Amino acid sequence: MIGIVLAGGSGTRLAPLTFLANKHALPLGNVPMIHHAIDLLAKIGITRAIMVCGDSDAAKFMRYLKDGAAFGVSLSYTYQDRPGGIAEALSLCRAFAGGDKAFVILADNGVQYVDTLARAVRELGHTDQWRQAAVFTTRVEHPEHYGVVKLDDQGSVKAILEKPKNPPSHLAVTGFYLYPPDVFDILSTLVPSQRGELEITDVNNYYLRDGRLSMYELDGFWWDAGESLEQYQAMHQYVLEYGANHWQHPEPGL
Ligand code: G1P
Repeated sequence: MIGIVLAGGSGTRLAPLTFLANKHALPLGNVPMIHHAIDLLAKIGITRAIMVCGDSDAAKFMRYLKDGAAFGVSLSYTYQDRPGGIAEALSLCRAFAGGDKAFVILADNGVQYVDTLARAVRELGHTDQWRQAAVFTTRVEHPEHYGVVKLDDQGSVKAILEKPKNPPSHLAVTGFYLYPPDVFDILSTLVPSQRGELEITDVNNYYLRDGRLSMYELDGFWWDAGESLEQYQAMHQYVLEYGANHWQHPEPGL
């Protein structure tokens, strides 16, 4: 399984900090935000990854991460030259993926514990699970800022709604995704949303309708440090104090 790290975007929600630096270059704890994303991939057993950069700071990421060897990840780069959304950024990685499964991470997302993510990679990385996709959920106080899971009376997932004004649950879809190789065919069928972007939620709903979407609930604390300035500052303090990407129950062999 390859890793795909999405680190483009203009980070307008973190203005004015992002006037001078890319969101993913801002400190989160004692290291730049992007450091945690690559560290996470290494921890869950992914050794080959591609990072999608945007704007004028791409060279800084390359200077910091180099070829990824210090993390134990063989890292390549590509460039998104317009803000076309997460799904468009993903489509740039087709040739790199070369028919492999992909674990996708939005580089402003982070976790306290990596256990669930590692388990999903282990469970769905097998060839008999080759067609299955997965999303990772967590309970949040303000679901309207995220993709939100809609359940029926029996507790089955009916749909994922992107930033709904009236959220049908408190179950948010986080910025970690696991996709089978046909994700790139699905991406090419998407049409832009009202905000003019190709939405990752449309990809997830496709797999849901097709009966191929697994859902894992994350354990421990999750954050989207790009959600707002307040959230970023709170997470910076949290990571300074507690760090990130820990094992709750270390797995032998990983
Ligand atoms: C994106 C996704 C959203 C998801 C969120 C997690 O939103 O579109 O479904 O819940 O990431 O961080 P964005 O942060 O790009 O607005």
